Amino acid sequence: MPKEKGNGWCYILPMDIEEKRYKEKEGQFSGRPISVWLDTTPETNYKSLPGDIETETLVIGAGIAGLTTAMLLVEEGKEIVLIDSKRIASDVTGNTTAKITSLHGLIYKELIEKHGEGKARLYGEAQQAGLEKIVEIIEKKKIDADLTREPAYTYTEKTENIEKLREEAKAVRKLGLPASFVRETPFPFMQGAVRFENQAQFHPRKYLLAMAKLISRKKNCRIYENIRALDIVENEENILVKTNKGNIKAKNVVLATHFPFYDKGRFYARLSPYRSNVIGVRVRENLPEGMFYSLDDNTHSFRTQMLKNGRILLVGGEDHPLGDGASNAVKYLRNVRSYAKERFSLRFTEYYWDNEDYATADGLPYIGLSPKSKKIYLACGFDGWGMTNGTVAGMVISDMILGKGNPWVSLFDPSRKDLVKSPGKIFYGGLNFLKSKRPGSVGRKFGLPTGFQRGEARIIEVGGKKVAVYRDKAGEIYKLSPKCTHMGCSVKWNNLEKTWDCPCHGSRFNYDGKVLHGPAVNDLKEEET
Ligand SMILES: Cc1cc2nc3c(=O)[nH]c(=O)nc-3n(C[C@H](O)[C@H](O)[C@H](O)COP(=O)(O)OP(=O)(O)OC[C@H]3O[C@@H](n4cnc5c(N)ncnc54)[C@H](O)[C@@H]3O)c2cc1C
Ligand code: FES
Repeated sequence: MPKEKGNGWCYILPMDIEEKRYKEKEGQFSGRPISVWLDTTPETNYKSLPGDIETETLVIGAGIAGLTTAMLLVEEGKEIVLIDSKRIASDVTGNTTAKITSLHGLIYKELIEKHGEGKARLYGEAQQAGLEKIVEIIEKKKIDADLTREPAYTYTEKTENIEKLREEAKAVRKLGLPASFVRETPFPFMQGAVRFENQAQFHPRKYLLAMAKLISRKKNCRIYENIRALDIVENEENILVKTNKGNIKAKNVVLATHFPFYDKGRFYARLSPYRSNVIGVRVRENLPEGMFYSLDDNTHSFRTQMLKNGRILLVGGEDHPLGDGASNAVKYLRNVRSYAKERFSLRFTEYYWDNEDYATADGLPYIGLSPKSKKIYLACGFDGWGMTNGTVAGMVISDMILGKGNPWVSLFDPSRKDLVKSPGKIFYGGLNFLKSKRPGSVGRKFGLPTGFQRGEARIIEVGGKKVAVYRDKAGEIYKLSPKCTHMGCSVKWNNLEKTWDCPCHGSRFNYDGKVLHGPAVNDLKEEET
């Protein structure tokens, strides 16, 4: 039996508590289905919209991009309204792993090849500036966000990948970033790594909730939760944003919605969605400092986080398309756990969750003026590196609104011609703006195929029509159109989270059809068959 050293004495922990404690059935995973960040911070309670309102700048979306933009503008005395369709910082940023680093896998050699040394250098400088901006905000505002400065590593376990790391380190050093190639790392299973010094990690919700509290106390800032923006009408004078609770008139609008639902730049063809899994596990080892990202198969990464009751190891990976088969959501989590188990002495899994991000056509995020617009800004396409990129978005967009110069405006310009480098497909489909009704009310009239189990979901054909059906544990039946309300792609069942996910552009809907994640702004239509 393995032993763990405590304060001067040894105690014994049984092997594989997890297997003994939990019996995982099909579609189940042990642990608690919530991110460590959401679990260790209070829920927010900002008001809903009081009716139609006006403001100078409306920021839509309160993740790291939206909140940083709002904060930087409020600090400059601008009048801001910030709205979110959910509670603030509870979507992608509430489910991240929060490594704050400019070391983004093996990106720099590729950026140099694709965009040239000058643009690759600008990208690196922007990321370092984003990192330092977070540190500056935390220090200036005295925010307790568990910030620690740590090295970041991109590592390999395969000798054949070592050359790639050497080349990346060489490329990165040319750009003036704090990199070195190292053979010695804190873990014996690593064959080598690119190491960046003095990077950082934090608790993203402690950071953003404190930020929101600070700005909401100012006269020039109002925050509203549970307001979904539905559409935008842009005039010469101002912009009208229609929401599910009223209209908001603004001079400037910032779309910090992870995917710009108001799409004037064919982002449906330029942003590629993927999901990725994270587990929070307790291990026997005393783990060293650092954030680790593997360049080998299935892009695993890990870091630790100190909690009140000790350190937890966060392991992520298994990037995959949305709606990737009915049973795969759980399979991916199990793969992450196997990855962790093969390398660490696991005690048990405490948390698990999954999350989504978008890659762009040319490897750079889209930050700045929305195409064909003079007053609408957007920020998206952070491709797994939104702590720095989301902060950079705040810096770029606030400078643009303030009329200040910013060195990264043209690099991240959302109107740049990048589709030539894109492997992405263009998806078409009908828009469907139908309101959701209470589901299940006609479920009893609906004949299910024999053997349709409680807890099961399928897309079945009824009278030549496709229907997305979910039967919950109590036997209640939810029947929906499988046609995504964004552009009409067919949604697929996610058996872990009990959601219908759209593989085309990343929209997600609850089992009862409610929108959970855009670009869709309308719920799935209830089927009356
Ligand atoms: C598994 C995983 C791990 C990651 N780990 C890291 C990491 O270690 N380091 C790193 O730098 N990055 C990481 N990332 C990436 C990073 O988490 C994201 O890029 C970043 O959080 C995105 O921030 P955001 O503000 O754009 O989006 P969000 O945080 O999702 O904010 C957008 C907000 O807009 C709201 N919204 C959407 N539509 C509407 C609408 N119509 N009306 C009103 N509000 C709306 C949403 O409710 C949401 O709150 C990771 C990503 C994944 C998937
Ligand atoms: S069709 Fe675009 S997200 Fe579904």
